[in-house]
Amino acid sequence: MAETSVQVFVKQITFETDRINSYTLHAVDGDHLPAFTAGAHIDLHLAEGSVRSYSLINDPSERHRYVIAVKREEAGRGGSAHIHDNLKAGEALTLCGPRNNFCFDEGDHPSIFIAGGIGITPILSMIRRAVTLGRRWFIHYASRTRRDAAFLDEIDTLVRSSHGKVNIVFDQEAGGGALDIQAIVSNATEGAHLYCCGPLPMLDTFKQVASNRQPHTVHLEYFSPKEEAATTGGFDVQLRRSGRTVTVLPGQTILHALLDAGVNVPYACGEGTCGTCETQVIQGIPDHRDVYLTDEERAANKQIMICCSGSQTPLLILDL
Ligand code: FES
Repeated sequence: MAETSVQVFVKQITFETDRINSYTLHAVDGDHLPAFTAGAHIDLHLAEGSVRSYSLINDPSERHRYVIAVKREEAGRGGSAHIHDNLKAGEALTLCGPRNNFCFDEGDHPSIFIAGGIGITPILSMIRRAVTLGRRWFIHYASRTRRDAAFLDEIDTLVRSSHGKVNIVFDQEAGGGALDIQAIVSNATEGAHLYCCGPLPMLDTFKQVASNRQPHTVHLEYFSPKEEAATTGGFDVQLRRSGRTVTVLPGQTILHALLDAGVNVPYACGEGTCGTCETQVIQGIPDHRDVYLTDEERAANKQIMICCSGSQTPLLILDL
């Protein structure tokens, strides 16, 4: 890991819903933590050697703590279950970041947030920032049930103290319904910025219905991959800076091949969502499998997320 790391400890654990806890993290040395911007995330190093990315949900003006919320995902890779089962108050942890792939635009225009489930987390810090700046904002928040919905009281408090509005739907409750994302996007004023974070179908719908808006006003963040990592191998990766060539074997990702060869490269999520492993392509055509790069960036083939993407050409030359 090439990124700067920070030692923190768990100051407080808060039960938010049956499956969501929030964790308040303070610096072990008592110093201020690195500043962050609304929408940022940190990469948490877990005891069993894995790394997981979590959005910061507290106010970006705070320097004394980071607050994250973790939903226990029974079908996940085990990181959230490990945190829920093992992380105790007082425990020390290492984290990297913060990084921001989902930036809040602080300009003087309305902000329209669309959140599904645990997708509320990066948006919560954006709302806090919008409130601080006195901006107009509107959140559309979908949850399966009221009991599953985290941070309802906080959102209510933020609405009451600002120029905010809220529309919450519970799609698995009697009389409930789904968010009409088409209508939300269509009714947004021209200068408004729109933000979406939630499950894949919600993001795909949002991306589609917002495709005719100014690209710089449309913001979304994926929490999970859409495609399997490329592991068919059978190509070489040449590292421009060191001059080394590493063969990616069947069953390996580029990241695995590099790590096996002793090449130290930064990574975190390992599934193409966080952006940590972004690498410049000097030559060759990647087989993009991530959800981090934009469609334009994928088409340009100048960058690759080496944790999950492969190669369409026998040789990839990377800026490593
Ligand atoms: S490590 Fe997260 S995108 Fe590659």
